[in-house]
Amino acid sequence: MARIGVFDSGYGGLTILEKFRALLPEYDYVYLGDNARTPYGTRSFEVVYQYTLECVKKLFELDCDLVILACNTASAKALRTIQQKDLPLIAPNKRVLGVIRPTAEKIGDFTKTNHVGLLGTEGTIQSGSYPIEINKLFPKIVVTGQACPMWVPLIENGEHLSDGADYFVEKYINKLLSADPKIDTLVLACTHYPLLVDKIKKHVGEHVQIISQGPIIADRLKDYLLRHPEMETKLSKNGECTFYTTESVDKFKKSASTFLQTNIEANHITL
Ligand code: DGL
Repeated sequence: MARIGVFDSGYGGLTILEKFRALLPEYDYVYLGDNARTPYGTRSFEVVYQYTLECVKKLFELDCDLVILACNTASAKALRTIQQKDLPLIAPNKRVLGVIRPTAEKIGDFTKTNHVGLLGTEGTIQSGSYPIEINKLFPKIVVTGQACPMWVPLIENGEHLSDGADYFVEKYINKLLSADPKIDTLVLACTHYPLLVDKIKKHVGEHVQIISQGPIIADRLKDYLLRHPEMETKLSKNGECTFYTTESVDKFKKSASTFLQTNIEANHITL
């Protein structure tokens, strides 16, 4: 039997995993956080691709026939190459899915002004993947991106609720909203950012809706499984989740338990 692999550079993918488990609790999940090499957001295409491929291969070894890159940076910089070049050679019956296209498909449901703001890592913003995907589906939507390079380090170091975090939240939000004051929809295009959502809300006006990806990606996974019975029937259904980190198990357990508000056990993994 196979399990569903959920990958992120660190803790961010937990915000997606928890929505998977809420909507699709029957399946078995394997979470892999590459905490030893996080953040990915400031790294080159080649490095993000290499790191992501290594993690995907590890998840394949752990019987994950379906892997979700719960990381926008990896989805922007590695997904296409893995799907088109690597999968046919290394695992033609396994699947790797990302988070950008499903999020782009939903944007039209939210914006009224047709002005959308995008908050992401440097890698995601520079890749241009979101404007490309959104404009394929909604050519009239104007997408303005803002890279927030300090946010992932704040979260990975457990400083996202501190007063100091407000400075960097306000800084990037102000930059984005002054670049396009017509923005009425803000996409948190990094799976870490929902952990900052209270602070983000504090610094945007009430007229701006904030879109977190978790519920959208969970809904798309449900739909994917309905459309792909050949994958769905081979997935084991014990409602279990196993966590792996490339960093210290104790650190991962402590932080992940805070993010998920429940105690978890974690395992160390070498890539
Ligand atoms: N959580 C990841 C994302 O969605 C990236 C974090 C990082 O920079 O490693 O982009």
